[in-house]
Amino acid sequence: MTQILVTGGAGFIGSNFINYLMDKHPDYKIINLDKLTYAGSLDNLKEVADNPNYHFIKGDIANKELIEDIFTNNQIDHLINFAAESHVDRSIENSAPFLHTNVLGPQVLLDVAKDKGIKRYIQISTDEVYGSLGEEGSFTEDSPLKPNNPYSATKASADLIVRAYNKTYGLPTIITRSSNNYGPKQYQEKLIPLFITKALRSEKLPLYGDGTNIRDWLYVQDNCRAIDLVLHQGRIGGIYNIGGDCEKTNLEVTELILDLVGKDKSLIEYIDDRPGHDYRYSLDSSKIKTELGWEPRYDFTEGLKKTINSMLKI
Ligand SMILES: NC(=O)c1ccc[n+]([C@@H]2O[C@H](COP(=O)([O-])OP(=O)(O)OC[C@H]3O[C@@H](n4cnc5c(N)ncnc54)[C@H](O)[C@@H]3O)[C@@H](O)[C@H]2O)c1
Repeated sequence: MTQILVTGGAGFIGSNFINYLMDKHPDYKIINLDKLTYAGSLDNLKEVADNPNYHFIKGDIANKELIEDIFTNNQIDHLINFAAESHVDRSIENSAPFLHTNVLGPQVLLDVAKDKGIKRYIQISTDEVYGSLGEEGSFTEDSPLKPNNPYSATKASADLIVRAYNKTYGLPTIITRSSNNYGPKQYQEKLIPLFITKALRSEKLPLYGDGTNIRDWLYVQDNCRAIDLVLHQGRIGGIYNIGGDCEKTNLEVTELILDLVGKDKSLIEYIDDRPGHDYRYSLDSSKIKTELGWEPRYDFTEGLKKTINSMLKI
């Protein structure tokens, strides 16, 4: 039986991924290790909680003894590391937890995986490691790493450590770098769920700067399908960009949310820009498209409607 250790599986993308994986591969055994910080919730995993092939452990990925115990007591085939401190604004306030979880955490996971043996270690990274773009161009997997905020700097650091463990010890690693995800189960501090919640309550929507910053949006199910493909068919030692081919200014996203919720644009409130706010992210995902035949399937309006509906159900 294939056994997968998912770390950070109570968060937004991790919980969507566990639900996706258990649906697609009902014979896999999934161990979910999560510290349950403010961003993680077992409510995200209600659908699988009673499945005998799902097992939850509360703990910290940087706790080496705990990780060793998990590997000793289970025959782990693959490890997929979603665990992270993930909110840029919080990293600007205090970067210490980001260094702990996003840098020391992967180092501990890699060390134990190296000593105990593993078939695949997948590190879930982000397009933010490449830094910011102007109006033109897209980042490929070979673009230099130029992170601009403490969050992206810690994610870039982890990517370099993962690369080093592959080159130095031959550890079978793969890195995925996706663009901004949106969809059900996302914690409310992030732009899309925050603005949907505020729009539903007819509260002001605080938009950074002039709203012209551009992000490439990826529906979380499209990312889950990409990670599943990388897990099974990705090239060891490889890096895969996963973009949504869906670049929007933050103002466009805000206006579409207001439209879908049936609220007036006068709810938009422009606030001082975030320090070091990256202007534009754009990913060239041709590698995963050609090598693994992946394409994003969800249209942005359709994905947003699904996200709004999931929030109305809560
Ligand atoms: N959300 C996005 O748009 C996006 C885009 C690209 C990449 N990513 C990456 O994807 C991964 C998941 O992102 P997300 O949005 O689901 O994050 P999230 O903040 O929703 O979830 C993170 C999870 O990690 C857990 N966690 C935090 N510290 C931990 C620790 N020390 N030990 C164990 N568990 C810990 C939290 O409890 C939470 O469940 C992250 O690595 C992030 O960098 C996210």
